[in-house]
Amino acid sequence: MKKYGVNELRQMFLDFMGSKGHLVMKSFSLVPQGDKSLLLINAGMAPLKPYFTGAEIPPRTRVATCQKCIRTGDIENVGKTARHGTFFEMLGNFSFGDYFKHEAIAWSWEFLTKVVGLDPERLYPSVYLEDDEAFEIWNKEVGIPAERIFRFGKEDNFWEHGAGPCGPCSEIYYDRGEKYGCGKPDCTVGCECDRYMEVWNNVFTQFENDGNGNYETLQNKNIDTGTGLERLAVVVQDVDSIFDVDTICSLRNLVCQVADKEYGKNYQADVSIRLITDHIRSATFMISDGIMPTNEGRGYVLRRLIRRAARHGHLLGIEGTFLAKLSAEVIQGSKDGYPELEEKKEFIFKVLTNEENQFNKTIDQGLRILSDMEEEMKAKDEKTLSGENAFKLYDTYGFPLDLTKEILEEKGYGIDEEGFQAAMEEQRVKARTAREVTNYMGADATVYDEIDPSVTTEFTGYDHLSYESEVTVLAGESELVASLVEGQRGTVFVKETPFYATMGGQEGDTGVIETANGKFVVEDTIQLRGGKFGHVGYMESGMISQGETVSLKVAENKRRDTEKNHSATHLLQKALKTVLGSHVEQKGSLVTPDRLRFDFAHFQAMTEEELEKTEALVNQEIQAALPVETAVMDIEEAKKSGAMALFGEKYDQKVRVVSMGDFSKELCGGTHVKNTSSIMLFKIVSEAGVAAGVRRIEALTGNAVVDYYKKQENMLKEAAKALKTQPAEVTEKITHMQADIKVLHSENESLKSKLAQGSLGDVMDQVAEVKGVKLLAAKVEGVDMNGLRDLGDQLKEKLGEGVVVLAAVNGAKVNFLAMATDAAQKAGAHAGNLIKGVAAIAGGGGGGRPNMAQAGGKNPEKAQEAIDAAAGILEQQLA
Ligand code: ALA
Repeated sequence: MKKYGVNELRQMFLDFMGSKGHLVMKSFSLVPQGDKSLLLINAGMAPLKPYFTGAEIPPRTRVATCQKCIRTGDIENVGKTARHGTFFEMLGNFSFGDYFKHEAIAWSWEFLTKVVGLDPERLYPSVYLEDDEAFEIWNKEVGIPAERIFRFGKEDNFWEHGAGPCGPCSEIYYDRGEKYGCGKPDCTVGCECDRYMEVWNNVFTQFENDGNGNYETLQNKNIDTGTGLERLAVVVQDVDSIFDVDTICSLRNLVCQVADKEYGKNYQADVSIRLITDHIRSATFMISDGIMPTNEGRGYVLRRLIRRAARHGHLLGIEGTFLAKLSAEVIQGSKDGYPELEEKKEFIFKVLTNEENQFNKTIDQGLRILSDMEEEMKAKDEKTLSGENAFKLYDTYGFPLDLTKEILEEKGYGIDEEGFQAAMEEQRVKARTAREVTNYMGADATVYDEIDPSVTTEFTGYDHLSYESEVTVLAGESELVASLVEGQRGTVFVKETPFYATMGGQEGDTGVIETANGKFVVEDTIQLRGGKFGHVGYMESGMISQGETVSLKVAENKRRDTEKNHSATHLLQKALKTVLGSHVEQKGSLVTPDRLRFDFAHFQAMTEEELEKTEALVNQEIQAALPVETAVMDIEEAKKSGAMALFGEKYDQKVRVVSMGDFSKELCGGTHVKNTSSIMLFKIVSEAGVAAGVRRIEALTGNAVVDYYKKQENMLKEAAKALKTQPAEVTEKITHMQADIKVLHSENESLKSKLAQGSLGDVMDQVAEVKGVKLLAAKVEGVDMNGLRDLGDQLKEKLGEGVVVLAAVNGAKVNFLAMATDAAQKAGAHAGNLIKGVAAIAGGGGGGRPNMAQAGGKNPEKAQEAIDAAAGILEQQLA
């Protein structure tokens, strides 16, 4: 048999399946697309699931691939045995409702025996216990004697992954000979030892599992096959293990060369050699598919793989970085099948080396700390590392949990994993709370006290918005750290920065700091003692380390807007002095990207006219397109030149003077537009007093003014729409409406009393005489107190002389009104006293003058009774 290489076997398979009508497709990415159930592609069929379930139409009903796969379920055993690995390639031919068992079985046999040339006498098919159909095909169609066909149960020969398409399978084993056997008398196909190796799996996906163990026969029967390419190479090349097949062997040899070790001489060294050989393959392929080392998901899988490999390199005594060199060999061996490896070569090397460098920086320290922890456990006779300590190693030294676990296991210790998770959660919560009460100015600012006083920052932001520089110091939330990783908050210090730190009223810049494999989001830039600028924020992805060269990028739009507002503040100050007088002096200033706030000494509110003049003057200087120039000079010279300085402020000997044409000259360290025309527009939005003798102006510039006017315009448009008119007609329309409303109101009033009168019917019928005085006492409906008074006046008129008593029920209340004419009063009538007695009956009080009185009552149902009592009370008054 010819000893084909891995690359040859791959091509032979794809060519063979192509000749059987299959569409040969490229390997899919290791990153599953639209499949949240998987972290990484782990089988040839995984990226094809939508074709199996019918969710998508396949490009052809016959497809063949060689798929890159990663399985990390057995990662603990990788290296320890020669069988385990995380990366492998799976050859597969698939039928989506096309051919079924006959063809699949026949072709697998044909490929293995005819194309590859494996000895048929050494091949043993197996079928699912109840799958007589497959048995018959093997026996009758392929011609394998019945005693050479094995029947296995569900455990071995039924392929399924939870719910979904599944089915019995038929695996093919290859007898590698006695030398690989376990020697047990019952050793045969299916034995766990290395003698009988599975080289092919034909899955007949003919059922759909509903997830509860109920199998329904699929309408479309599918074929899913899988052959581990490396394993096939093992039997074809007749070598011990996957670590001995051609391409992997040359990689393994390179590991040995780099480590200056010989393979097969020492078990511990072999473990490390195999582990590195495997992990560098996975890592290289993962990075080529765009995965980056991070602390979560597949990024974390990659980080673990790289760091485990780096640590085992350390164990082998390799110094410095070595993974990129090995990766080059992976690429060399696999680029035939995966051209993307060659294309992304430089990037892959960079990511690997960077991650390795970062880990190397802390590995010695971390290992030392870990061995201190071991000593402590030994002293206390403990067998488990506390979750807190495991977390410390993870958090500060970048030791993935399972790396710590692996190191400890070798020495018979365990880890409190729950405690680790709890510590991790605690930190998350802390980080979240810290974010809420941004604490860099608070108690935690003590972390900055630990920074070496010789650390300073040079500001390059007058001329640059992005800059490359070196990280000098990193602060976590409570201590200085060597690196910050994804999710962590902290402060970054660099040698030179284009980020402006909050100073002189101008708010600090925001933006990002990019590392080779990560991104730090700068939420604020602050100035600390000793000329240090701290970039405060959080690690959005990847990692940042001390000493690393990073790329600092200021959020440009925000900075530009801030500059407009800052320059406009200078113009405003000068304009105020011009309009209001030289007593105007700056008392405070805040410049943000959104607006400017300027406090100044002035004794009274500004008039509309003064505001308009000030605004117009600033806009005039903006339109004049004054060049903005800066110069550094001696303080004395600056003052002599007439530059505005703050009274009582202490300045350095050397100061920076910002001038805008001949209009404004101020001492200022802030950043500005290059020409006032860049400010575009200036608009004062408020003027108010903030303290005795101090006024505050808030104003907008640039697009914020445009937005402001846009908002005003929209409000006006909406108002016009509501008024069903054009914006230009709004005022006129409102004036008309107000006049209309006035007319309607008085009409309404008179209608109301007319209505009340109407409800009385011919009220004069109810006039009675009490001792010669006419009395009209009546209950009316739906009239309020005003209406009642109008009504009373009208009735009194009609009556000539006499007394009117009215009651009007209004919901839960009743209103009373009494009136007595002059003649009635002379006869003894008193409206105030009269109503007092009447209202009391309806649960109320009140009173008033002799001629007119009103009252309220809480019992409207007693209204009539109260009215009826009026005559009696009047009678007593007249006595
Ligand atoms: N999907 C089958 C396997 O992974 C072929 O073994």
